[in-house]
Amino acid sequence: MTLWNRKAALIGQALAGLLLVSFASAGMGATLTIACGSGGAEMELCKRHADEWARRTGNIVKTFSQPTSAMDALSLYRQLFAAKSPAIDVVRIDTVWPGILKDHLVDLRPYAKDQLSQNFPAIIDAMTVQGRLVAMPWYIDAGLLFYRKDLLEKYRLPVPTTWSELKSTAQTIRSGERAAGHADFYGYVFQGKAYEGLTCNAVEWIASYGGDTIVDSEGHITVDNPRAVAAMGMAASWVGSISPRGVLNYEEEDARGVFQSGNAAFMRNWPYAWKLVTTDDSPVRSRVGVALLPKGGPDARPAAALGGWHLAVSRYSAHVDLAADLVMYMTSAEVQKRRAIEGGFNPTRPALYRDPDVISANPFMAGLSNVFDNAVARPSVSTGMKYPAVSRAIANAANDVLSGRSPADQAMRRLDAKLHQIERSRW
Ligand code: GLC
Repeated sequence: MTLWNRKAALIGQALAGLLLVSFASAGMGATLTIACGSGGAEMELCKRHADEWARRTGNIVKTFSQPTSAMDALSLYRQLFAAKSPAIDVVRIDTVWPGILKDHLVDLRPYAKDQLSQNFPAIIDAMTVQGRLVAMPWYIDAGLLFYRKDLLEKYRLPVPTTWSELKSTAQTIRSGERAAGHADFYGYVFQGKAYEGLTCNAVEWIASYGGDTIVDSEGHITVDNPRAVAAMGMAASWVGSISPRGVLNYEEEDARGVFQSGNAAFMRNWPYAWKLVTTDDSPVRSRVGVALLPKGGPDARPAAALGGWHLAVSRYSAHVDLAADLVMYMTSAEVQKRRAIEGGFNPTRPALYRDPDVISANPFMAGLSNVFDNAVARPSVSTGMKYPAVSRAIANAANDVLSGRSPADQAMRRLDAKLHQIERSRW
């Protein structure tokens, strides 16, 4: 079976399972299905809070475990929506999807009422397409650098602020640890598989070198520039030295696995990783620090890709009002506060960043306003419905450079041509 056939078969099985579930449990109250993230502790928290809503309202909520790769999840939803399937009532959507899925999602503005003004205005804007609120903000992500405090102390080195410092620090620690008998030790792990997560890393590298955002906010393709080439060349130089060749196939959870088991000095990941790497049974629990990702050089600025997941109601749901009520509960201040404390998920409500319980559970969140100031958006707004093709082209080009299949300058030139081809006459 080709990879694509295998994926289609898996998606088919997932859909068949969902349909069975919704028919089998018709009975008292309504039965709704909510899509939950499947990485880390997401499923457990999502299920817990959805069950609370079900108990309070006398309904039943089933959870659907969304594929870990955002690109696979998007393909699944597009198939469901094309078939006008009622199988999933509440859909978990990525920050970069509102423009792509807008026609299939219910306007939540009438349900949100006073909740709107309690969220960051920029996120409400990002979830609004042509005046319709297509999703309620749930949590925000920004790329962060996780590091081993104990190892920086041991080697008397500061937290790196430029990528070249990160490289030399990671090299020093890696050689020292290997010489001390830790054969599997690496310097830096990140997401290098050809999927949405690599698009995020590549946007961060390029923006942090002052090389813009691949396609700018007006839709101009800017990727074929010397800073972007330098950034990608730097990233390629890590693979097989400070980073294992395995990063070419890493998603978020793969990177976390290596870092959490004590086998890497640095990791790029999203805030959710904090709770997990510092949990009681984590081998590195009291040895982790969090910082801004490094920048390209002393005169550059660090860049954190902006991400996050939000809850939307499918137009094909048989229970639109109930589904919207479930969304309002899941995204409420009360649930966001518990998700922040128990799961390290960044609230979308400014008041929670001043909440002492939230900050003592996630000390790094107090400094996050700094990260959000440096956040860069992927080019999803400027490229609209074509963003999935754009992101796939970016991730493939970046993976080619990391794997050594293409030198950075050629890959950026080819990516530029590919993006023009996708754009054709307009985005
Ligand atoms: C995180 C982000 C999301 C991004 C994904 C890429 O889940 O929140 O925005 O698309 O990672 O892997």
